[in-house]
Amino acid sequence: MEKIALITGSKGGIGSAITSQLVEDGYRVIATHSPGKRECAQRWFDENNYSSNKVRLFELDVTDTEQCAERLTQLLVEEGTVDVVINNAGITKDGVFKKMTAQAWKDVIDTNLNSVFNVTQPLFAAMCEKGGGRVINISSVNGIKGQFGQTNYSAAKAGMIGFTKALAAEGARSGVTVNAVAPGYTMTPMVELMKPETLDFIKGQIPMGRLAESVEIAKSVSFLISDAGAYITGETLSVNGGLHMQ
Ligand SMILES: NC(=O)c1ccc[n+]([C@@H]2O[C@H](COP(=O)([O-])OP(=O)(O)OC[C@H]3O[C@@H](n4cnc5c(N)ncnc54)[C@H](OP(=O)(O)O)[C@@H]3O)[C@@H](O)[C@H]2O)c1
Repeated sequence: MEKIALITGSKGGIGSAITSQLVEDGYRVIATHSPGKRECAQRWFDENNYSSNKVRLFELDVTDTEQCAERLTQLLVEEGTVDVVINNAGITKDGVFKKMTAQAWKDVIDTNLNSVFNVTQPLFAAMCEKGGGRVINISSVNGIKGQFGQTNYSAAKAGMIGFTKALAAEGARSGVTVNAVAPGYTMTPMVELMKPETLDFIKGQIPMGRLAESVEIAKSVSFLISDAGAYITGETLSVNGGLHMQ
């Protein structure tokens, strides 16, 4: 039977690569986009030649707890099941801590971390009742090692890793695995925001001497949600070209 995977931030750099991989792997994909981005999401859908039986565009503000509860409960009724949840939506609002505003802190925690509660909570019980499922949280190398100018982002991404381990313990008996993927720097719109000189400096620190390709992150997700990944839970898979080794 066709499995259903939901991915947040599906039309972003890494999200697009994961969506395309999931379609290739035979999933029906619920591809979420943020409010007001319907037209842009439709363009992305058309450019990728998706069909509506393979990819369903789904508006969701991952920072809105009530909206997520309501819309995802309704989604479960409409689709019958959600087998895989991929928490991928994320933003950065960098700045040194001395100058960081409460708003920049809150926005990043809401979008990267509170979103994980908002999106997973309405779907997790049904996965457990069904006796199987997969949750993947897209964390970051900077959630593991910390990064200058990213106290908000590093805190959120580290929080995702703690969440992953705790929820893995809760899901294990029901066959629901929960894992994180921690990408290193990957060439996407998020990284294009960085100054070229900062990016050159970072490349110089990566033993492989290059950024990750989005598809390399997508392949890791594909492995963890496949049957081959069935006995892996509570783990964080680093995909960072050797930038940080634990
Ligand atoms: N690129 C990297 O180097 C890197 C490294 C480590 C980890 N990561 C993580 O990987 C994930 C994907 O990053 P990316 O580089 O692909 O970034 P991206 O291209 O900027 O995509 C981010 C996505 O998040 C979605 N999003 C943001 N706010 C949202 C909200 N309130 N509700 C719903 N969706 C929202 C956006 O959706 P809309 O376009 O619909 O607004 C966008 O599609 C993020 O969690 C990021 O932290 C990235």
